[in-house]
Parts: sequence; C-alpha cells; structure tokens
Amino acid sequence: MKKTDQINLTPELQEGLEKKVKALHEIIQDIGETYPSVAFASSFGAEDIVLHHAIHQSSNKIAIFTLDTGRLPNETYELISKVKQIFNQKIEVFFPDQKKIEAYMNENGVNAFYESLELRKECCYIRKVEPLIRALQARNAWVTGMRAEQSQTRETLKIKEFDSGHNIDKINPLVDWSDSEVWAYIKLNDLPYNRLHDKFYPSIGCAPCTRAISIGEDIRAGRWWWENPKNKECGLHSKDEK
Ligand code: ADX
Ligand code: SF4
Repeated sequence: MKKTDQINLTPELQEGLEKKVKALHEIIQDIGETYPSVAFASSFGAEDIVLHHAIHQSSNKIAIFTLDTGRLPNETYELISKVKQIFNQKIEVFFPDQKKIEAYMNENGVNAFYESLELRKECCYIRKVEPLIRALQARNAWVTGMRAEQSQTRETLKIKEFDSGHNIDKINPLVDWSDSEVWAYIKLNDLPYNRLHDKFYPSIGCAPCTRAISIGEDIRAGRWWWENPKNKECGLHSKDEK
C-alpha cells in the first residue's frame, strides 16, 4: 500500500498542518534573509522532500547539497534525479575521500561496519561526517530535516541551535512536525518520495545499513538494526563524534 494512501486527512490534521506550513514558509524566508551563506543538507527522506518543496516556494537563497556515501539504495538515486527535475534545483554532491575509502576497505573489508560499533562509526565518519565538514566549510548556517519525535537521541532538538562541532547555526524547521504531518504535506502537494517508503522503510540511509521495519517498531528501528538504539546516529548530528 502506498504510504500516502495510509494518511487520513482529517480536519484536525489539516488544520494543525496549515499553521505549521505558514510557520515553515516564514522560517524558510527568514533563514534566506538572515544567513548569506546557508545550505540545506538533503538525504531525500520524507522530511527533506517537504523542505525541497518549501524552499522551492519560499526562497531561492538557500543552497542545497547532499552527501553521496557511495552506498545509497538505487531508489534514492532515482529520487534525486526526479527532485532535481521537478524543482529545478541545483544540488551539490559531496563524495567521500577516495584515499580514505580505499584504506578502510583494504584494511577491513567491504562490509566491515557489521563487525563492530567502532568500524561502523569509522565508515560513517569517512562516508558522511568528513564530507559534511567539507560541505559546511564556507557556510554560516545549515538546515536539516530532523524532527524531535524521530528518536530518543533527538528528543531535546530545537528549531535553532548552535552547532559547536561545525561552529555555525543549525536550523531544524520541522522539529515539531509529526510523521503524519510530513506525510499529509507530501500527499496534499503530490510530491515525489522514495519508493522504499511504500515498502515499510520509514527512515532511509545507506542500503546495507537500512532495512524494512515491522508493525509497532520504532521509525528508526530499520537503521543499524543490529545496534543498541542509543548508538543510532552516524555522527552527522552528534557534537562529540568528530
Ligand atoms: S542520519 O544521521 O540518521 O543519517 P537522518 O537520516 O535521520 O540522519 O536524516 C536527518 C537529516 O540529516 C536529514 O533530514 C538531512 O538534513 C541530514 N542528512 C542525513 N543524511 C544525509 C545525507 N546523506 N546528505 C545530506 N544530508 C543528510
Ligand atoms: Fe557506512 Fe553504513 Fe554508515 Fe553508510 S550507514 S556510512 S554504509 S556504516
């Protein structure tokens, strides 16, 4: 069943969403005016699709980039092409450092991230965290699609915070959105989304580290499913992991 077909657009949901959408457009405009060199980091998840659309509608001053880890599912690559085309947005791609990838693979093997938390974090560092440092080098703020409700590691997230790891402001415009609001927005605006969302993948990262979830499971249960939930961050959003 399609993810958008599962959303019941009740009057309460639509009313609550209307207020959030108004606030979202104000925030997006404000970000564009306040920060001369701001960029939105997109992983093309459902939240990021909402932001691509809101940026398309409200501000042309926010640059967009993505971190291509080299291990993304093909469904994500399909969506990247679609989004570029539909919104006519320039999306800068950052890849991992070739020498670092070669050294890691030669030393540890192709799928070493399953073997230990240390090796998993090292892979995430090479494929995501270090490219993010490069992506943010000339930026004075960045925008993400993170929501407080997504996991226990994000419960205290704020709409705007100082990212001491990168020394710039970080803005999370969807911090207080619910999963239903994200999907209602996608449905109402007929936006494209990752086909994996229709196959019980609520949260999507690299292919080997993402799987479908079962009914009742946490929305990030399919990410690094073999690990303890308190470890389920890749380092993009944790100040102490650099
Ligand atoms: S992750 O840290 O577990 O991978 P998640 O998938 O929840 O993060 O995404 C949260 C936000 O982090 C996204 O909305 C996006 O802003 C940013 N992000 C995550 N992965 C990437 C990526 N590969 N490229 C760019 N931004 C990303
Ligand atoms: Fe490596 Fe998996 Fe992290 Fe992707 S999510 S960078 S494959 S450990």
